[in-house]
Amino acid sequence: MFKVAVIPGDGIGPEVVSEGLKVLDALEETSSLRMQRTELDIGASRYLRSGELLTEDDVATLTKQDAIYFGAIGDPRVPTGVLERGILLTMRTRFDQYVNLRPIRSWLNFSRLKNEAPFNIAFLRENTEDFYMGAGGIFKGGEGKVPLRIKRTMYDIRIDLEASSSDVEDFAFEVGIHSRRGLERFADFVMSYVNQAGLDEFTVVDKANVCTSLYGLWREVFREKSEKTGVRLEFMFVDAMAMALVRNPERFGVVATPNMFGDILTDLGAELQGSLGLSASGNINPSGVSMFEPVHGSAPDIVGKSKANPFGAILAAKLMLEHLGMVELGKRIESGVESAMKKGIVTPDLGGSSTTSEVGDAVIEYVMCV
Ligand SMILES: NC(=O)c1ccc[n+]([C@@H]2O[C@H](COP(=O)([O-])OP(=O)(O)OC[C@H]3O[C@@H](n4cnc5c(N)ncnc54)[C@H](O)[C@@H]3O)[C@@H](O)[C@H]2O)c1
Repeated sequence: MFKVAVIPGDGIGPEVVSEGLKVLDALEETSSLRMQRTELDIGASRYLRSGELLTEDDVATLTKQDAIYFGAIGDPRVPTGVLERGILLTMRTRFDQYVNLRPIRSWLNFSRLKNEAPFNIAFLRENTEDFYMGAGGIFKGGEGKVPLRIKRTMYDIRIDLEASSSDVEDFAFEVGIHSRRGLERFADFVMSYVNQAGLDEFTVVDKANVCTSLYGLWREVFREKSEKTGVRLEFMFVDAMAMALVRNPERFGVVATPNMFGDILTDLGAELQGSLGLSASGNINPSGVSMFEPVHGSAPDIVGKSKANPFGAILAAKLMLEHLGMVELGKRIESGVESAMKKGIVTPDLGGSSTTSEVGDAVIEYVMCV
């Protein structure tokens, strides 16, 4: 019996999560899968009611789970960043989900590319360091001191920044940080993922020609791990990678990226598939609680219109089952998505006219019949 916390969240989050849960229900009916689900009210509505983002009670409940199944957060009534930082980023940090897995692949003829060659890439993005640590500040009138405290499970760093001259205007900065320990554990995960995928080579993205310190250590750690394990790697600068992804994505298998570049490249990848609504991701702590979600946000422009594509959320359930060791059931979900696509049962973002729940039903029809 797996314990799974369900956080539908805001906007289209509840609409797509309910389709994912329908698919999981169907699997429970037709396989040995058993889940105990606990739904949590975390998101904009509760924040507007009570000012709560992620409470200690939430953390206590989530800690007891085998996995978290998440919809989306974000609401036009709440200033940008409050929910994203206060809930999503906090959750990734609190549960130390240091790997972000985002597979992208071509689906039948839905890809945006003219190139017909099928592609299937697993992006593995370092999820806790780089430029997304909240390590920034603003000097007003070019003056002042900004003490930065970066506290993580692995270390506690303090950096004191002081403006040396007052003859400049306002300036702002955001610091990118990599720690050897943070990189080693991420690189270890990448190596074992590559092995499990039956590959002997993978691609590592960075911008080591410009950010020589930040990505110098990044390369050093990957080189060491590659020499130790015999798994070969190629380094690519992020700008070249963006071009190659559009030109010949079929040449990539596993791609490891730092936090910020991975964020951007995987959205490009999501669109190459045909729609952002198709993309799923896992925020993984291999020895802790991991969280699975569609990549898209709360899409306030289509909420309540039955237009939300549920494939991303359904495929997030697939990633969750694979993470829990139920690989065959994950494959069944993926085949169910393909089956719905083949029948043309897709939402308007993929050029169809089906509703969110009709798409979910089409996936279930396949899942129940296998
Ligand atoms: N993981 C998350 O929870 C997450 C991720 C991204 C954005 N957000 C938040 O979501 C809110 C809206 O952000 P945004 O508009 O930049 O991004 P978004 O992903 O919500 O929407 C971008 C565009 O894609 C469309 N879209 C998204 N998901 C879709 C789906 N499943 N089916 C069909 N179309 C879909 C939307 O209609 C919109 O036109 C903001 O508050 C943002 O901060 C949350």
